[in-house]
Amino acid sequence: MLWVGTSWKMNKTLAEASDYATRLAAALSDGAPTGVQPFIIPPATALTTVRAILGSDSPVELGIQNAHWADAGAWTGEISVPQAADAGATLVEIGHSERREFFAETDRTVNLKVKASLTHGLRPLLCCGEPGEVFDAGGSVDHIMAQVAAGLDGVDDVSRVLIAYEPIWAIGEHGREARPEDIEGVFAALDAEYGDKVECILYGGSVNQGNAEETLQVKGVNGLFVGRSAWQVDGYLELLRIAAAQA
Ligand code: 13P
Repeated sequence: MLWVGTSWKMNKTLAEASDYATRLAAALSDGAPTGVQPFIIPPATALTTVRAILGSDSPVELGIQNAHWADAGAWTGEISVPQAADAGATLVEIGHSERREFFAETDRTVNLKVKASLTHGLRPLLCCGEPGEVFDAGGSVDHIMAQVAAGLDGVDDVSRVLIAYEPIWAIGEHGREARPEDIEGVFAALDAEYGDKVECILYGGSVNQGNAEETLQVKGVNGLFVGRSAWQVDGYLELLRIAAAQA
């Protein structure tokens, strides 16, 4: 199964989220393309709205962009995994580089969040990625394997885990598109270690309608995690079609 999804990051009002979800529900009224598992990770404010519009029998899984490891308590500004589930999430995105860089996310907190997600029956979407300097120095594989091992430390059953490799140098408007040869080494290593153990290993970072096909052809890539190119529903639907042709 190819997992193809988008995080909207800190974008979309409720009206914009509703419009996207309404169009997505209409486009997928006959189900998801064969072999493709779609997912959307809206801002937390829009989760219940998107869930309600898609409906409970939708093929689209929903995620939250971050969740705390505690079930409840005095953690001002945080959202727990049970609360995320209550709002309609079945996935928890954990350890995106933007959270590691700007919100002090560490391997330790990532690991706690992975465990909390699994405890409550949600799928962790564990993000990993190396800075450009590490890539330039040829250290990508070591960096990524250490990051993923730390995130999964003490997790005996990783079968519900998704891993998203998102090189920091490839993400966002200042990122550069990765060429297949840039990411083959990391995917070979991830595939060898986790390919037959986890649910899926995805690629993210400047994925678009022009490079999605060649990215999916890299050995070990079983999904796409997309930002900007899927923030308009037509762009996302096109990516689902491209993935379906590869599935
Ligand atoms: P872009 O596709 O906008 O580069 O973002 C990727 C990403 O960070 C997905 O989580």
